Amino acid sequence: MTMSDLMDKIKKQLDQAGIKHEFTKLPDDISMEVEAHMKFHGRALKFAMTNMVLKTEKGLVVIQKRGDTQIDNKKLKALLNIKRLSLASEDDLKKFGLAPGIVPPLGYDIPIYMDKRVLEQEEVYTGTGDRLFTLKLSPDDLIKLNKATIGDFTKLEDTQSTGRVLSGIRATGKLHLGNYLGAVKGFLELQNDPNYQTFYMVVDLHTVTTPYDEKALKESVRNIIIDYLACGLDPDKSTLFIQSMVPEHIELAYLFSTVMTVARMQHLPTFKEKAKQYPENVSMALLNYPVLMAADILVYKAGLVPVGIDQEPHLEIAREIARKMNDQYNLNLPEPERFATAGEYIPSLTGEGKMSKSIEGSYINITDDLETIRKKIRSVPTSSEVGGEKQGGVAVLFSLLEAFTKNSPEEYKKFDELYNNKSLKYVELKDFLAEAIYEELKPIQERIKILEKDTEYVDQVIKEGAQKARQVASETLTEIKKAMGIDYDYN
Ligand code: TYM
Repeated sequence: MTMSDLMDKIKKQLDQAGIKHEFTKLPDDISMEVEAHMKFHGRALKFAMTNMVLKTEKGLVVIQKRGDTQIDNKKLKALLNIKRLSLASEDDLKKFGLAPGIVPPLGYDIPIYMDKRVLEQEEVYTGTGDRLFTLKLSPDDLIKLNKATIGDFTKLEDTQSTGRVLSGIRATGKLHLGNYLGAVKGFLELQNDPNYQTFYMVVDLHTVTTPYDEKALKESVRNIIIDYLACGLDPDKSTLFIQSMVPEHIELAYLFSTVMTVARMQHLPTFKEKAKQYPENVSMALLNYPVLMAADILVYKAGLVPVGIDQEPHLEIAREIARKMNDQYNLNLPEPERFATAGEYIPSLTGEGKMSKSIEGSYINITDDLETIRKKIRSVPTSSEVGGEKQGGVAVLFSLLEAFTKNSPEEYKKFDELYNNKSLKYVELKDFLAEAIYEELKPIQERIKILEKDTEYVDQVIKEGAQKARQVASETLTEIKKAMGIDYDYN
């Protein structure tokens, strides 16, 4: 067994002090990542102790922390009473005979600080100075030798929350193909990926930011839950719920509104559009729409949000809020990213703009029958010419064709070639497309009919969904209120 000099030195020190320890040789081709080493040992990341050399204005320090935690810069700076902190360079390390990534837990003359969470483990695996060896020992024993100062300067890495997914749809009517292709398809893909914990809701509180019918709202909300189920969302895999039944969202939205300026919100293109569309209803709720959406997402610490491309400006606000809250209150909220589907932008049947519930004649509902679909598709404007760049209604037809021939791409190719050869008859394309759309929607429509009759089941899904969602949401809200100093203990 060949060991580096540094490793030899450590071994001697441990032996002399009578400290129980074990060196293990790793496979030659193993990567330098701690995760890979722990996988080899068959132990969780929390049993790893990493040794990092940091540079401060007072000189170098070594910090020792558990593999599953992150340094909390603010706390560490306070502990070391310093202002600047960065990773030591290779040159800095060389002076002590060290190299990046393989720093051992003792054997050099640099002050050591150990995070208190390391001591929660009876034994840890750590570096040795040799890339191909790990060292297992008890951190309690180690301290006797390396005289580390114990401190509290890490936070638990939120590995669970980065795998959380949240999205929602307003209850402004039936789901249309834009919602289905741009959002629901993404919901399904992530629901069926075991790496994610998925939360999908109907956003009734966003629905009331523009004029709505209060008598019809309850039924519209319930119908979207039914649509979700019919499309394949499964309450055993996803938490399905109604936004207002989890009041934590609104409370968090209020707290978030403290870090956003009115000017920033007024300049959002989505706000401007809605203000133009409903000039009589430019309410505070409309201005706050993206703040509530950020709360929807971050109350679950969701890192991934399946939505259409039109929602990108709102996600930017959510990221901005997460950054501001993290900086100001030392929190660890993720900066959520959009999960895009192939149908992230479904154009309007009119040939102008996007398919939208608020534009009559622009959409096909997922509940439309074949005759209605055929009529709507036939009314898509097509020029008398065939061939050339696909524009307006022609582009709409081809983008829908692409979305609904996923399982038979040769059909798309066939129509595309006919178009390019200038021998396409639009009516044939239109009727083929109408049938392809209906074929995909038919089983969904059949399930909707069954679910509409199964009142008890749908009631239970809604009740249990809210309960499950509240458990997670209330945890985050409590954490954020505490960080903001809004936690009282008068009970
Ligand atoms: P809403 O109800 O307007 O739209 C619901 C979803 O459908 C997508 N979508 C489209 N995708 C592609 N092409 C189209 N033509 C099209 N039209 C609609 C939207 O992008 C969206 O994903 N603000 C959200 C609701 C919301 C939300 C949230 C979403 C509230 N809180 C938190 C995610 C996370 C909205 O207006 O959806």
